[in-house]
Amino acid sequence: MTDTLTLRRPDDWHLHLRDGAVLRAVLPETARDFGRAIVMPNLVPPVVTAADAAAYLDRIRAALPEGSGFTPLMTLYLTETTDPDDVAAAHASGLVTAVKLYPAGATTNSQSGVRDIDRVRPVLERMAEIGLPLCVHGEVTDPAVDIFDREAVFIDRVLDPLRRAIPELRVVMEHITTKNGLDYVRAAPAGLGGTITVHHLVINRNHLLVGGIRPHYYCLPVAKREEHRLALRAAATSGDPRFFLGTDSAPHVDALKETACGCAGCFTATNALSVLAEVFEVEGALDRLEAFASLNGPAFYGLAPNPDTITLTRGAPVEYPARIDTGDGPVTVFDPGFPLHWRVAR
Ligand code: NCD
Ligand code: ZN
Repeated sequence: MTDTLTLRRPDDWHLHLRDGAVLRAVLPETARDFGRAIVMPNLVPPVVTAADAAAYLDRIRAALPEGSGFTPLMTLYLTETTDPDDVAAAHASGLVTAVKLYPAGATTNSQSGVRDIDRVRPVLERMAEIGLPLCVHGEVTDPAVDIFDREAVFIDRVLDPLRRAIPELRVVMEHITTKNGLDYVRAAPAGLGGTITVHHLVINRNHLLVGGIRPHYYCLPVAKREEHRLALRAAATSGDPRFFLGTDSAPHVDALKETACGCAGCFTATNALSVLAEVFEVEGALDRLEAFASLNGPAFYGLAPNPDTITLTRGAPVEYPARIDTGDGPVTVFDPGFPLHWRVAR
């Protein structure tokens, strides 16, 4: 059996780093093995303008471990008052790599997001013109729509009309959790990619709810039925260039997860690559891990893959800390529920 695997250094195309004490604690977990990451802008207050993004980038750089080669790729949080000129300037200067669409109320810190997609049309048209991709949290917020159906309904009500209206806009359908999402990306003519998280390859909705409620498996979009998890595994391990890794590692301190109304988010930065390698091994697809984790993402964004490599070695189960301490309290690390045999050699 293969017991070492060398791949181009991976990137994370959807990551939450937060700010302050949590940023300082979680950033090294990603910077250790990943070359770059698309950094989500859902801070409080959100990263809306180029000036906000520049200031956040400075705070991230200041929190990086000495000598780290990690590159944060910044995003702007789209609001109904976003100025197309500010977005274009942020893109032209190389400051931002994408703009993020949160439907208002869809997830953590999305209150300032978009209620009426027509109101952001001028920004989206400008983005299409200049080739700046839109990252989409693809869930409707209509209270009448069941939470397990919100992704599928979003495709019909929002994403498809949007792509028909502005076909040149490059779009990433983020953290896909359904067969419907996978099929929609596959059927698109061009310019549509999809990220898949590590945790959605591992858990289905039973993990969340059977035998007691497990708040550390609660994330948005919420994990779906087993048939969807299996479809996600097939897509991720297929080598299809439209699918790439976006961990959506989303740290919340335990006090905010283990409570009557817990926050959504799984924190996977610490063991993401070990879990991924285990999944790809079980699927007989270790030879396609590099495409998913290191090649397809940069290709979509028009960037070169990282120049250097990482090596994973297979051996006795790897120990990971159950939680990472931050100045604001502990953050629990995602527990895949099976032993991890692949470690990143350092
Ligand atoms: C994310 C967060 O905590 O910021 N939570 C999550 O469950 N994924 C927001 C998001 O990406 O939806
Ligand atoms: Zn996210």
